[in-house]
Amino acid sequence: MSVEEMLGIVRELPHQLGDALWRVESAAVPRADAPGGLAVCGVGGSAIGGDLARAVLGDRARRPLRTVRDYALEPWAGADTLVLCSSYSGNTEETLACYQAAGEAGAPRVALTTGGELARRAREEGVPVIGVPGGIPPRAAVAYMVIGALECAASCGAAPSLRAEIEGAAGPLSGLAAGEEEPRRLAEALRGRVPIVYGGGPTAPVARRWKTQLNENAKRHAFWSTLPEANHNELCAFAAGGDVTLVLLEDEGQHERIRRRIERTAEVAAEAGLAVERVSSRGSTPFERVMSLVLLGDLVSVLLAGLEGVDPTPVEALEQFKRTL
Ligand code: PA5
Repeated sequence: MSVEEMLGIVRELPHQLGDALWRVESAAVPRADAPGGLAVCGVGGSAIGGDLARAVLGDRARRPLRTVRDYALEPWAGADTLVLCSSYSGNTEETLACYQAAGEAGAPRVALTTGGELARRAREEGVPVIGVPGGIPPRAAVAYMVIGALECAASCGAAPSLRAEIEGAAGPLSGLAAGEEEPRRLAEALRGRVPIVYGGGPTAPVARRWKTQLNENAKRHAFWSTLPEANHNELCAFAAGGDVTLVLLEDEGQHERIRRRIERTAEVAAEAGLAVERVSSRGSTPFERVMSLVLLGDLVSVLLAGLEGVDPTPVEALEQFKRTL
């Protein structure tokens, strides 16, 4: 798939919102009170939806909403926790292990997938399956992953329903998806550099998303960290220099002290000779703002792939590694 084709898929994100809501509705996930909240089990492009859902909800979350990137649930998770098993392919061993573990713990389960072994087992056992469209890279299905997590959080009493907020984001995000200038400028700025992406509060998981998209699409080293934590350790490494560009992700919903820390971190990094890029979310709701930064990072990663002369779509290193295990 060419850079242009992958850009086209990324730009589809705003159109996927309504489809994602419809697919969750069609799965008829039962409304069931889960005092233990929601655990989203998955890895890579299928895990990030759990983190982003938590970021979008912020202090609207009423119960725990956590992402489990592992082979097992936490030991305290049981029948009072809704477990969303999220795997684009449906064949990821970590997610299948969590699906099994959740069943053994007596936890109610939902599968979010295009098919594979996960869909097969879920159908056999009467577990609701939220269908995700096939034929795109897993990481390009981020709208389905985050909306699946948000709707499951609502169905188990962990959060209010954000349907109206999600529907309202489609128009403004379409405008951003068509934008060329900012993503191209940022891709140019990151060319040949090692990006370190910092987020804080609602932008923390977005920083992780930028890092993983830069890894998988642009095939670049990239790192991420969060504020305030990075101010207590990583700051010491700024003086070491290197081909580092620090990318700071800002949002109006951040704690005022995190916003102050971003200001100071940018100044200290620049004084140490690092290149710094400050990027702000856009939008009138938390969903729109978080997804505006996700969209921007996705576009930057694909454009950077183009500049570096690599194909953004295949992740042969990951596929090959899975085969050797
Ligand atoms: O983006 C990717 O291709 C990966 O990060 C995958 O999402 C990851 O390997 C897990 O696979 P799956 O999404 O099929 O569960």
